[in-house]
Amino acid sequence: MEDKHMLMIPGPTPVPEKVLLAMAKHPIGHRSSGFGEICAEITENLKWLHQTQSDVLMLTVSGTGAMEAGIINFLCPGDRVLVGNNGKFGERWGKISRAFGLEVEEITAEWGKPLDSEDFRKKLEADVQKHIKAVIITHSETSTGVINPLETINKYVKNHGKALIIVDAVTSLGAINVPVDDWGLDVVGSGSQKGYMIPPGLGFVCVSQKAWEAYETATLPKFYLDLGAYRKATCKNSSPFTPPVNLIYGLQVALEMMKSEGLKEMFTRHCRLTEATRAGVKALGLPLLADDEVASTAVTAVMPTGVTAEDIRSTIKKQFDISLAGGQDHLKGKIFRIGHLGFVSERDILTMIAALESTLITLGSQKVTPGAGVAAASKILG
Ligand SMILES: Cc1ncc(COP(=O)(O)O)c(C=O)c1O
Repeated sequence: MEDKHMLMIPGPTPVPEKVLLAMAKHPIGHRSSGFGEICAEITENLKWLHQTQSDVLMLTVSGTGAMEAGIINFLCPGDRVLVGNNGKFGERWGKISRAFGLEVEEITAEWGKPLDSEDFRKKLEADVQKHIKAVIITHSETSTGVINPLETINKYVKNHGKALIIVDAVTSLGAINVPVDDWGLDVVGSGSQKGYMIPPGLGFVCVSQKAWEAYETATLPKFYLDLGAYRKATCKNSSPFTPPVNLIYGLQVALEMMKSEGLKEMFTRHCRLTEATRAGVKALGLPLLADDEVASTAVTAVMPTGVTAEDIRSTIKKQFDISLAGGQDHLKGKIFRIGHLGFVSERDILTMIAALESTLITLGSQKVTPGAGVAAASKILG
């Protein structure tokens, strides 16, 4: 049957019909007063989403563009940075930092495990000369479904006093609590195709006062991603370059939907969906990559035994038109990942778990007790 595709990957995520319809209009001029009014509303609502009074800037980029902007606006060539790397996106922070000539020291953890905040404490306390200019980490590591201890690491950054904390919140914004002002986060990057519930194409960077001070002396080259230009334009409810007007129509509606659900309710929903997913998958006899205590509430990585991850993905796609994500790098073929962030409901989780059970039976898995997955997930959701 056509048009029944179910996206359960960690981005792009499903888009509500209201948002799709909002985008299905002629664009208007981005220098018009009508567009200015939309920008003003969006700017306020982005601040609400980030729980901040600081600037939240909107760029026409993917999440990686937001990450790059987060580096080049606040640092100088040769600056020493501590980068957390326990997955594909932590690794990417290291790559971007090296590409711009920063002196990178990586703090690593095995893929599937969280970063150890003690490693950061030791490095930061030992840096009495204050050479470390930034600590750069991924909050929700999408490649493994692990949440890193951002709040604790950030406390050590605050004790250090000099370093900025730069955060990839690409799969946490909108799904997991990221109280930017309460925690004192300096630079927070995210992307539209995740918790925002709109298609890919917009990146967001939230910038603290301390980060703006660093901006004044930062000498890395920048032009399109010069956040000073975005700040100036945002103050005038505008954009320095032509923005994707129709995506912004969608964002306006998506933010209204988020506000009517409420921040706390949104995070609680993501927790419930995650718990139900994990309970259902475990009841089907499939091991999970990340332990419960460090599980991201945006994405769950499953490490099947007996049947291969790729067979599961291709069979569930063919039989049920459900897309699950594969593993990346050395986890390719070893895990599959279930995205449950953004516009995802309890019904979606039950459907996916039921389809997963049927898929395992089709593939001849001996471990499946019929109905066990849905029963375990329903117990959480009931
Ligand atoms: C945690 C994280 N960071 C960064 C990115 C990169 O985003 P993009 O592919 O939009 O550049 C992703 C995308 O999946 C992500 O999940």
